[in-house]
Amino acid sequence: MTFLFHSDAVRGAVFREIFAREIPELPFSMDPATVDPDAVRYLITWTVPPDLARYRNLEVLFSIGAGVDQFRLAEVPASMKIVRMVEDGIVRMMQEYAVLAVLTLHRALPAYLRQQRDEVWQALPQPQACERRVGVLGLGMLGQAVIERLKPFGFPLSGWSRSQHDIDGVTCFAGEAGLDAMLAQSDILVCLLPLTNETRGFLDAGLFDRLPRGAGLVHVGRGPQLNHDDLIAALDGGQLSGAMIDVTEPEPLPPGHAFWNHPKIVLTPHVASVTQPRTAARAVIDNIRRLRDGLDPVGLIDRSRGY
Ligand code: NDP
Ligand code: OXD
Repeated sequence: MTFLFHSDAVRGAVFREIFAREIPELPFSMDPATVDPDAVRYLITWTVPPDLARYRNLEVLFSIGAGVDQFRLAEVPASMKIVRMVEDGIVRMMQEYAVLAVLTLHRALPAYLRQQRDEVWQALPQPQACERRVGVLGLGMLGQAVIERLKPFGFPLSGWSRSQHDIDGVTCFAGEAGLDAMLAQSDILVCLLPLTNETRGFLDAGLFDRLPRGAGLVHVGRGPQLNHDDLIAALDGGQLSGAMIDVTEPEPLPPGHAFWNHPKIVLTPHVASVTQPRTAARAVIDNIRRLRDGLDPVGLIDRSRGY
């Protein structure tokens, strides 16, 4: 029974060290060329290797990231469990990024950066946090963690998900029926939805029009959820006042793309949150122990939902 690490060597070295110490009875390999494919029971990777079929005894396909949209789920045999990454490092980094992004838009940082470039010393109107409503799309591991981190600032908070949630101090909406009301009270909208058939192209003109005029957008979900042309039109027309964008389609953006130099967009290169190998290795080991005990791993994907 072998664990195969199929990703970057730097993180792999950390995994190897922690596996050797904490679960020494499980052989660990980083080399598909020398591993016995029939021995591989667990595989961790970002994308599904094209030769997945050679691992005939593979039981669990772990994603090294929080999302699994990069796996074509239909191509993974139904007998294999698919598990996304649920680990403290990803959560902490996403909390930091969301706070950074919400405060960037709340405190009009893009406008002040433009003023600095133009040598303008001019205070802009500043609503208080209690007057700025923040809505989070997606109330999973990351959406809920972000909401907890935003609470101390005093923004009125709401959230939206597929199923109904109940979060202290947060107005929760669910499903298509709850979406209009949620959007109407989001002065800053944070997207933390997984990419599925339902959420592809979700952030478009129709959605932006349902936000209060002058709202801000923080997009940290997945690139294909955002319609780029619609975002530019909403920013240029004033329906949106600013956006902080971490994920795009494609990544990286091509030279000359409108996002690079748009004065109302702050762009980061898909760095909001990155799997941290020390905490991730421990999370994967905990999941292997859960599987050995006959329990579902944390982060098990429901294929029918796609996340
Ligand atoms: P989870 O699976 O824990 O949560 C997903 C949430 O989205 C759930 O609340 C779910 O609702 C909701 N949801 C899914 N589909 C719909 C839908 N059609 N309508 C309404 N709500 C829906 O995911 P995480 O919080 O761990 O991660 C979210 C995403 O963040 C990842 O899939 C990834 O794309 C992105 N990400 C981005 C990173 C970056 O660096 N930019 C880093 C890490 C992740 P319900 O609760 O009812 O199931
Ligand atoms: C992830 C990501 O899913 O890096 O972890 O986006």
